Amino acid sequence: ASTLGAAAAQSGRYFGAATNSFQLSNSAYATILNREFNSIVAENEMKWYANEPQQNSFSFSAGDRLVAHARANGMSVRGHTLLWHAQQPGWAQNLSGTALRNAAINHVTRVATHYRGQIHSWDVVNEAFADGGSGARRDSNLQRTGNDWIEAAFRAARAADPGAKLCYNDYNTDGINAKSTGIYNMVRDFKQRGVPIDCVGFQSHLGTTLAGDYQANLQRFADLGVDVQITELDVAQGPNQASIYERVTRACLAVTRCTGITVWGVWDAASWRDDNPLLFDGNGNKKPAYTSVLNALNSV
Ligand code: G3I
Repeated sequence: ASTLGAAAAQSGRYFGAATNSFQLSNSAYATILNREFNSIVAENEMKWYANEPQQNSFSFSAGDRLVAHARANGMSVRGHTLLWHAQQPGWAQNLSGTALRNAAINHVTRVATHYRGQIHSWDVVNEAFADGGSGARRDSNLQRTGNDWIEAAFRAARAADPGAKLCYNDYNTDGINAKSTGIYNMVRDFKQRGVPIDCVGFQSHLGTTLAGDYQANLQRFADLGVDVQITELDVAQGPNQASIYERVTRACLAVTRCTGITVWGVWDAASWRDDNPLLFDGNGNKKPAYTSVLNALNSV
């Protein structure tokens, strides 16, 4: 196959990109997005600050534009993200305790209900674990409402949209380490207790090296009975960029339950990073990393 999406589809997977509704009117950008990708995710426009700017007053227009674009172009949609300690609207940052818990669950219910039937996978909770060696939850206003906030969010999301896969999503989980093991233990506990969770997202914001146990880490989660997805892939420009992209792609292809890969942007000009971490350069040219990913997808 000659595009990323079509090549991934040969093994039943998707290949997606993060985007923003304002970018769709850039025709050079949209040409690449529509040709190469069969999944999109909102880089920002489905976050709490964006779609509930005032409590109980929802603003879905930008997210709706992305969903409509996806539908018109045969793409699936990842939902990002229902609850996160960052990018909360000011009113939520000022709440705590029961008021915050109720507001958070209301947010999950209202947003997941609005998009019911249109989301392939939701990042129900994003980045709730601490960096470093503790393997513990991150301190946040949401965590301070009680350790059960994550499972409460997953139950509310399931009730609101029974057809969406429900994911936990995080970064610095690119191998077997204290943080990924903390998440692993939570997922195992959820599966044992019947808390609805279907998938784990590995953001994969990568530098110039890749952990040797990247694939083994994906596999141990898959062995718990959840899908795994590469959700925000980008890799620092450098001599290893193409080979790291290739190794991540091959790792996903080697794990039966790895159902798709999303890159965190289409071209370097629009990346949140300044180290040219994407598959297309600022002029829309394919980089060596693009070719290495396409060839890997075509090798199975
Ligand atoms: O929209 C406002 C604009 O009105 C204002 O004038 C401008 C001035 O600062 O800010 C704009 O908001 C920015 C927003 O992106 C939309 O462009 C924020 O400052 C900026 O902090 C925000 O950055 C995003 C970041 O998440 C924080 O939400 C990045 O684009 C986005 O790539 C990044 O994505 C995250 C994932 O959601 C979670 N995982 C990590 C990943 C990278 O940080």
